Amino acid sequence: QKIYYYPSIDSTQNKCQELAKEGAPEGTLVVADQQTEGKGRLGRVWHSPPGANISMSLLLRPALELQKCPQLTLLTAVAVVETLHEFCGISAQIKWPNDILINGKKVCGILTELNAESDRIHSLIVGIGLNVNTLPEHFPEDVHGIATSLRIEKGEPLRRVPLLQQILTRLEELYDLYLAKGFAPVKKRWETYAVTIGKKVTIRTLQGSLSGYAEGIDESGVLLVRREDGSVTKVYSADVEI
Ligand code: BTN
Repeated sequence: QKIYYYPSIDSTQNKCQELAKEGAPEGTLVVADQQTEGKGRLGRVWHSPPGANISMSLLLRPALELQKCPQLTLLTAVAVVETLHEFCGISAQIKWPNDILINGKKVCGILTELNAESDRIHSLIVGIGLNVNTLPEHFPEDVHGIATSLRIEKGEPLRRVPLLQQILTRLEELYDLYLAKGFAPVKKRWETYAVTIGKKVTIRTLQGSLSGYAEGIDESGVLLVRREDGSVTKVYSADVEI
C-alpha cells in the first residue's frame, strides 16, 4: 500500500476518493500537513492550518453489508481514543457518532464516506482530523470555546508522526479484530468511552430536532433514543446535544 503525503491539498478526503475510483488498494493512505478545503460532517468546513494537525484519509474496501458501515466509524473513534490514552495519557470521550472530546471540547472529528452500488461496497474512505498542536488563536471564531487540541490540553507540543503511526497500528488491530470477531467486542469498548449514552439528549438533524433519553447503540451503530411517550427512535446521522 502507498502513502501519499501533501504539504498542502484541498482535502485528503477528495484525493482519497480519486484514488479509490482509480482502483487503489485497501490501506492506501492520504496525509496532508495543511488542507485548504477540509470537509467536516453535514457539509461543514474542517479547519486544518499548516504545521498543526493530523489530517488523513484511509481507503478501506471491506466485504460488508452496507448497513454495517457505520460500525467502522465507531471503530475508528475507538482507535483514536485508545491511542490518545497510550500516547499521551489523555482520557478522551466519544460523543455519538464520532466526535472525540477532551473535557467536553472537540479534539478530533471523523468523516466516513461510502461508495457503493446497489448493496456492494466499492470503498469506504475514513477521514480523521485530529487537532494536535493547534493553538487557541489558530481556531476560527465559530469554534472558539468548543474546540481544543492535544497541545492545549497537555500544555506542550506533541510529535505528529509517531502519533499518526500509533493511530494506524491501533486502527489495523481493531479492524482485524472486527473482521474476525464482528462488531460486539468493538461496541463494548466504544460504550466505555461514550458520553452520550444514558443521558437526556437533543438531536438535531437537517429535518428538525427531537429530545429524549439516549439508550444506547444498536448492532449497526445507530443511536437509539427513547421518547417521552416510550417509543424508540433510531438516529442515523445528527448532531447531539447533551
Ligand atoms: C467532523 O465534522 O467532525 C469530521 C471532520 C473530519 C475532518 C477530516 S481531516 C482529514 C479528512 N479530510 C477532510 O477533508 N476531512 C477529513
